[in-house]
Amino acid sequence: MTASTPSASRSPFDLTGRRALVTGVSRGLGLQMARALARAGADLVITARKLESLDESRRDLESFGHDVLPVALDVRVEDSIRTAVEAAAAAGPLDVLVANAGCNVRKPSLEITWDDWNTVLDTNLRGTFFTVQAAARHMLPRRSGRIVTIGSLTSVFGYAGLAPYCASRGGVKQMTMSLADEFGPHGITVNCIAPGWFRTAQNDVLYRDEEWVRSLTERIPLRRPGRADDLDGIVVFLASDASAYVTGQTLLVDGGMSTGSVRALPQAR
Ligand SMILES: NC(=O)c1ccc[n+]([C@@H]2O[C@H](COP(=O)([O-])OP(=O)(O)OC[C@H]3O[C@@H](n4cnc5c(N)ncnc54)[C@H](OP(=O)(O)O)[C@@H]3O)[C@@H](O)[C@H]2O)c1
Repeated sequence: MTASTPSASRSPFDLTGRRALVTGVSRGLGLQMARALARAGADLVITARKLESLDESRRDLESFGHDVLPVALDVRVEDSIRTAVEAAAAAGPLDVLVANAGCNVRKPSLEITWDDWNTVLDTNLRGTFFTVQAAARHMLPRRSGRIVTIGSLTSVFGYAGLAPYCASRGGVKQMTMSLADEFGPHGITVNCIAPGWFRTAQNDVLYRDEEWVRSLTERIPLRRPGRADDLDGIVVFLASDASAYVTGQTLLVDGGMSTGSVRALPQAR
């Protein structure tokens, strides 16, 4: 059975027998989304820049009872993407890609350097595109695949001090629509998960400011920042048969913040 063939006897959310490549699994949201996919039955290929930084994640993910293959991948290096995706595909057909690896530089725009700009755009936008391209080369001949990119609230809203990041996440959203248009006729869906505010290593410094957290929380209709497991349902949905007729979408998982309170969020100190 292919990834997109529905079956009467299996849950549309079941990922048993499917292989998912998830990038950026050494910590944070990538690790949590990999857990959700493993819980739904998927075999995994997990990546980070250094193989040893995946040791703990591998042990954690193997507890779900499915295959876990760690592979080194730096999305800023073209050869690294190609080699890693080849290794992933050599282990078995690639059914799912979650292109999660990303970074941020938080600075006033007048202080952003050429290198800052390149770091963020190369990682989040170019890195995502070429990871998708490499995975799609394996999916298109099989006429089956689920590709998930990662955006952000900043895919649709601006935020002071995050100009390169906003540019990269807006780009991912636009690119997702373009790729969905192009790959749809080949049986591949491409959708974007856009998380709101989730506390991870990437933004931990902000959450140490209680006043800032209070202001943030007041502006989220569900009255709390995201927990990593708030992405479990959406990633399984987009990786599985359940989303067979959904493509090109950016789905905001933000506790409702995009309904209107984003502009009122105070500048981070
Ligand atoms: N946290 C949020 O509130 C939030 C909101 C919206 C979107 N996002 C996005 O969601 C994704 C995960 O975020 P997070 O908060 O979990 O961040 P995180 O804790 O900093 O984790 C980032 C992951 O990406 C990997 N990575 C970074 N640069 C890489 C590169 N050049 N090549 C390959 N892998 C690289 C890191 O692995 P190594 O450093 O070990 O290589 C790590 O596993 C990111 O794309 C982020 O921008 C986060």
